[in-house]
Amino acid sequence: MARYVAAVDQGTTSTRCVIFDESFSVVAMDQKEHRQIYPRPGWVEHDPLEIWERTRDVIRGALDRAGVPPREIAAVGVTNQRETTVIWDRRTGRPYGPAIVWQDTRTAELCEELARDGGPDRFRDRTGLPVATYFSGPKIRWMLDHVPGLREDAWRGNALFGTVDTWLIWWLTGGPDGGVHVTDVTNASRTLLMNLHTLDWDEELLQAIGVPRAMLPRIRPSSDPAFYGSTRPDGPFGAAIPVCGDLGDQQAALVGQTCLAPGESKNTYGTGCFLLLHTGNRPVPSRKGLLTTVAYRLGESPAAYALEGSVAVAGALVQWLRDNLGLIERSAEIETLARSVEDSGGIYFVPAFSGLFAPHWNSKARGLIIGLTRYITKGHLARAVLEATAYQTREVVEAMTEDAGVGPAELKVDGGMVRNELLMQFQADILGIPVVRPAFTETTSLGAAYAAGLAAGVWPEPEGLRRHWQEDRRWTPQWDHARRDAAYRGWLKAVGRAVDWLD
Ligand code: G3P
Repeated sequence: MARYVAAVDQGTTSTRCVIFDESFSVVAMDQKEHRQIYPRPGWVEHDPLEIWERTRDVIRGALDRAGVPPREIAAVGVTNQRETTVIWDRRTGRPYGPAIVWQDTRTAELCEELARDGGPDRFRDRTGLPVATYFSGPKIRWMLDHVPGLREDAWRGNALFGTVDTWLIWWLTGGPDGGVHVTDVTNASRTLLMNLHTLDWDEELLQAIGVPRAMLPRIRPSSDPAFYGSTRPDGPFGAAIPVCGDLGDQQAALVGQTCLAPGESKNTYGTGCFLLLHTGNRPVPSRKGLLTTVAYRLGESPAAYALEGSVAVAGALVQWLRDNLGLIERSAEIETLARSVEDSGGIYFVPAFSGLFAPHWNSKARGLIIGLTRYITKGHLARAVLEATAYQTREVVEAMTEDAGVGPAELKVDGGMVRNELLMQFQADILGIPVVRPAFTETTSLGAAYAAGLAAGVWPEPEGLRRHWQEDRRWTPQWDHARRDAAYRGWLKAVGRAVDWLD
């Protein structure tokens, strides 16, 4: 009996493969970064073939390190950066152009046009989403409008669309030679093309945005006992293994944090920052600028839904400080630099690099640093960079509290930035609730592995997963109300200046 489960986690900046054993322990892991391509202001691209190559590398790397024969792997789960859009030729596997990344704002005008008739919330009832550059639908339309010959190929069924899960599953299961063209409900719920109630592509949305149905993948459960397909023995796994788990990375982290009941929530601090609150088996509409999204669907059971607060720039701001300004050499150095001063010296950094996502949904906002005097050093700047993530999280928590009618009692966190203890303390201070970090922080991979292992019968019950969750550390707020509110008021003022900069 095969005893291991592999998770492929294709994120915004890197790809990893993690092999888990039956007790959810990590046996081996491999990770590789890929290029971030910024051809113009506001544009962000990835090379889809490079992503597929890195994926093959990390699968082989993880298998080598694990020393596990491929036939011992019971199931493969895939999780991915969401919304990022790839279109390729089903006959050759050749992409029609670079992947348009979720952070890319090139579709701002198109979105404005779409919103002219009925406003930015015209599709909210059906999709749970505002019309915004973030989502895949407008990105597909942009490619159809700009790549010569693509529209004809799409109508003929030769051009396939996929988010990155779809792209990788297609290759893993055979590529041009019989690869399956599927996605899961969580990824489909980020396209602006899926109806949140029927969980199927919606003809009126397809018409309104101008996307031919022939190019869309089949929508399947996130954990599928019928299996999407099998890996090719001549592919990186070197054996035929069921591929039966697929979740957007933030939904996978929700599962990995065992937020499997209504009212449970988590915040993941990665490139961006994504807070998801499980709302049970019905979609809860947001009035405060959050997204209504599918949390997961396990087999044929009803889908679970979530409210989500998406923040576009969190860890990406630390990378920007490193790569574009050269203020630090490694991301981890930000904490030391920020600790060299007592506070931010009164400055705020609003990182509206992709406009502002939740709760503003304003593609015309641009980044700013405000409050500068000659007193300010790079230490203050580092501190303001970290604080920006915590303030943006507070904005999302406020919106969620208003939408849900009750605020969280504490915040479960994960993702790369949660190693930063200064940030975690500041997060607790600015929210006024405890921040809790689990011992096991590879929650995204764990969620994808769990979905796959559940479908393949490795983990028939969620209880084991729940038992696996253990608290590592908790930060309690140390600021009083007045200090917290004064600091947050300053942030809101700064955001007010960043909004509509391009108008
Ligand atoms: O919606 C975008 C999100 O899925 C990206 O997550 O962790 O790859 O930055 P991450």
